[in-house]
Amino acid sequence: MKLLVLLALVGVAAAAVEIGITKVASPRTRLMKSGLWPTYRKYKEALRLQNKAAVLASVSQPVNDYEDFEYVGNITIGTPGQPFVIILDTGSANLWVPEKGCKTCKGKKEFDKTASSTFVANGKAWSIQYGTGAAKGILGEDTVRFGATGTNQLVVPKTTFGLAKSIDQDLQQDVADGILGLAFQSLAVDNVVPPLVNAISQNLLDNPYFTVYLQEKGATDNVPGGTFTYGGMDTKNCGSLIAWQPLSSATYFQFSMAGIAVGSYSNNKASDVISDTGTSFIGGPQTITDAMAAVVGATYDDLYGAYFIDCNASPPPVTITIGSNKYMLTEKQLKVDAGNGQCYWAVFPFDFGGFGPSWILGDPFIRQFCNTYDLGGKRIGFSKANGA
Ligand SMILES: *[C@@H]1O[C@H](CO)[C@@H](O)[C@H](O)[C@H]1NC(C)=O
Repeated sequence: MKLLVLLALVGVAAAAVEIGITKVASPRTRLMKSGLWPTYRKYKEALRLQNKAAVLASVSQPVNDYEDFEYVGNITIGTPGQPFVIILDTGSANLWVPEKGCKTCKGKKEFDKTASSTFVANGKAWSIQYGTGAAKGILGEDTVRFGATGTNQLVVPKTTFGLAKSIDQDLQQDVADGILGLAFQSLAVDNVVPPLVNAISQNLLDNPYFTVYLQEKGATDNVPGGTFTYGGMDTKNCGSLIAWQPLSSATYFQFSMAGIAVGSYSNNKASDVISDTGTSFIGGPQTITDAMAAVVGATYDDLYGAYFIDCNASPPPVTITIGSNKYMLTEKQLKVDAGNGQCYWAVFPFDFGGFGPSWILGDPFIRQFCNTYDLGGKRIGFSKANGA
């Protein structure tokens, strides 16, 4: 498996969008100022009750685990629904799938817009660059359903998404057909409304947040490995809430980490981090990850951009301080089977190039602690993941 770093690299674009936000009040802010907000809420509630099929307090979908590197889920797009396997990625904010005729998308499911009665053409171009991978194409609009056909789906009509005309090698080699970004609209390429934000503004969910539970399954492919719960907490798989942390930037799910420590090493300089389901490991500045690796006895391999550790070693836990709480990542989450009797230490050096956050809390963090991503409240919550 390849290390995935699926955070959208849109520093420049995001900055431009943020400027727009400070100047133009959101429709909600405008309605609140004019006193029309309660009326608007009632109107939305009436719409919601009318459309019985769309009434969902919260809905959850399972994800499958690929070697603890990648978690994928099912969606359908269009009418009738065309199925896709996508990465549910909190490090980006656009949904895209391959379009029929995409020459670089061999072996992947392709969306046939002529076969959907609800497809609406848009035609605007998009292109997205991730930490690993890139894709481009044109935009369209259709009904997106979270979850597989025949299950309790979250149905989001009129969702704008990308139809990929070409994808790069990183994405060609990936098991997923496409990527579904779950972060804020301000991070979205072309300022497209992300599918879940669209669901929230259509009042399809009881709460404007979702909870992610991921499991450690070792070196196996396509096995059940977690649950995404839209519109609620996950009381089945997660313990009670430890704390909410306000976001320092509502683009990624970005917040402040007070410090990081492992064994005899500690760094107590506050830094901005993001919680990213689409990144396989914990990423941070190399001067710090090197110092941490030295303490645990892991060695850096430039070819892989990763640290290797003796599979029989017992590296000490990594402790991350957020607010006044300490979150401990155990050996179980941080020692990842690499095959051939080798093991990764699931931390990697990542350079954001001077923009935004400096750490990525990827899947090992989320396997240890369920993360509740609050789009409405601009905060993130943590609770113990059962079985971690
Ligand atoms: C997605 O759908 C396929 C085909 O129906 C199924 O085999 C697979 O288990 C589903 N994945 C998840 C995560 O539910």
